[in-house]
Amino acid sequence: MCGIFGYIGPKQVSNMLVEGLRRLEYRGYDSTGIAVKNGNISIFKKVGKVADMESILPRAIHGTVGIAHTRWATHGGVTDENAHPHESFDSKVVIVHNGIIENSRSLRKHLVSQGIELNSETDSEALAHMIAIELNQDNNPLEAVKRCLKSAIGTWGLCALFKEHDVIVVARNGSPIVLGQGDGETFVSSDPHALTPHTQRVVYLDDGQVAVLDSNGIEVSRLHGGQIDTNVTLLENEWGVADLGDYSHFMLKEIYEQPEALRQCVRGRMDLATGNGRLRGLKIKPAELRKVPHIRIIGCGTALHAGMIGQLVIEKMARLPAVSHVASEFRHNDPVIDPEALHFAISQSGETADTLSAVKEIQLKGGQVHGVVNVVGSTIARQCGTGVYIHSGPEQAVASTKAFSNMVAALSMFAIQIARSRDLTKEKAIEYISALEEIPDLIEQYLQDQGPIMEAVDALKDAKSVLFLGRGVSAPVAAEGALKLMEVAYIPCLAYPAGEMKHGPIALLEKGSPVVIIAPDDHVKQKTISAIHECRARGAKIILIHEQGDDISQEGDISIAVPKVHNLFSPLLTVVPLQLIAYHTALQLGCDVDRPRNLAKSVTVE
Ligand code: M6R
Repeated sequence: MCGIFGYIGPKQVSNMLVEGLRRLEYRGYDSTGIAVKNGNISIFKKVGKVADMESILPRAIHGTVGIAHTRWATHGGVTDENAHPHESFDSKVVIVHNGIIENSRSLRKHLVSQGIELNSETDSEALAHMIAIELNQDNNPLEAVKRCLKSAIGTWGLCALFKEHDVIVVARNGSPIVLGQGDGETFVSSDPHALTPHTQRVVYLDDGQVAVLDSNGIEVSRLHGGQIDTNVTLLENEWGVADLGDYSHFMLKEIYEQPEALRQCVRGRMDLATGNGRLRGLKIKPAELRKVPHIRIIGCGTALHAGMIGQLVIEKMARLPAVSHVASEFRHNDPVIDPEALHFAISQSGETADTLSAVKEIQLKGGQVHGVVNVVGSTIARQCGTGVYIHSGPEQAVASTKAFSNMVAALSMFAIQIARSRDLTKEKAIEYISALEEIPDLIEQYLQDQGPIMEAVDALKDAKSVLFLGRGVSAPVAAEGALKLMEVAYIPCLAYPAGEMKHGPIALLEKGSPVVIIAPDDHVKQKTISAIHECRARGAKIILIHEQGDDISQEGDISIAVPKVHNLFSPLLTVVPLQLIAYHTALQLGCDVDRPRNLAKSVTVE
């Protein structure tokens, strides 16, 4: 949530800042700004996306040190004044900040009592003035930032630029910060993705750490203590560049990337000959797996839906109780944690604050928690220490698609692995592995012949609301379809397990109400057909996602067939038409598909 980029070195910085922001724009896009040091510090900021800010930049801005920010508003409306960077009263300090300063009201009041005029409604601006006040004491940028932060309560990823010093001071507490080391140049970003064009050598800052950057390097120390060694990590090449290529939007590109992403996820991790799993990042021996009493999976949004499917697959294959939890509720419910149980924190970005808090809660109570994460080296991955990278590659569209599939695949592979440590036979395990390995080809097959997606779009685009129904593993798919359509096309959507519909949501149905029903050919199909009849009896229009060759197709007003697959893995096929429906509906409605309003790709505030 919010993106930060900064540079200090010999090169002209302004274009680099704008490019850095472009790569971070998916983190937040209410307003953007840059600050460049050139004797004074010049600030340019504007409501809107990076391109809007770029339009106000002069042709040349000289300066080789700068910081930049793309905002997702928390405190204060979306205005030019509230956009970052923020400048101190004496123009000697300029900051960009991610996170929330919880005691900003009292800090702002105190500043006003000292005669300082505040120019924005943000919690962040106070930090710029406070650092400037501290700087006047000893003219030491690092110490000034440290003293300022000791009075702040909350979370920060903070970068400070100084008119009279050739350094950038950076601090982290609860908001990701990664530093990049080049040759004679140093970078800072909220996300490694923005560093990859410049350097592969990075230093992840931990909570409670502060760093001083100059063109020669990085010095890290603790906010409340001494110096610490900088551990340089090499970024994995595979993360690479995410360009649109021939696609019009990242969402569409990422939908089409699902087969290849799934191959990356599964490759080398399943042994077809023995029926065994090899998720080595978990670092759990089969004997330990055997003793696990239950499994809990925690995530938000799409990750939660993937977790809900994982829960069912694990329970079915391993005959082991499994449950999924909404991460934002988890820690506040004071959960009982069994140290023998396994917990999975599931997250594409690896930065979701709600999920991270749940991880910390589990660890605090002595539990084991493993990450199921896409972004290598992200906060959740590092906090867990063990887990499964899902290897989706960069996901740029705010609406998650290919990460969902890989999360489901990763949890399915874990299900096979733990089931084998228990009572799953080799033959049955081989059957599951073969089915899983077939899926990328089946998705490719479907993408070549997508069925009447545009008819479905026509039925949905003017709807007041849409009901999504499914049973068993298709209930979370219904929830995922509803989330996709809602977030990119802004149509109110409700998702229910099909059997629950008659307990309330049926009241919404009237002649022509669109209902999207996911009904693969599994053991609950007949029950789902009953729900279809109940909807039809009220005049609803049925958009049915079903498997090829199944007579159920006659039950839909619009029927979209996906290739037949093993029952437990049907979500990996049935979700694809739902993603396409959301994408095309949003396009028809003129919505910004990749950057839906009010959203951000990684939600780093609770
Ligand atoms: O990065 P995460 O997987 O932890 O993100 C969790 C949710 O914020 C995310 O899935 C969100 O719901 C997406 N916009 C859904 O498309």
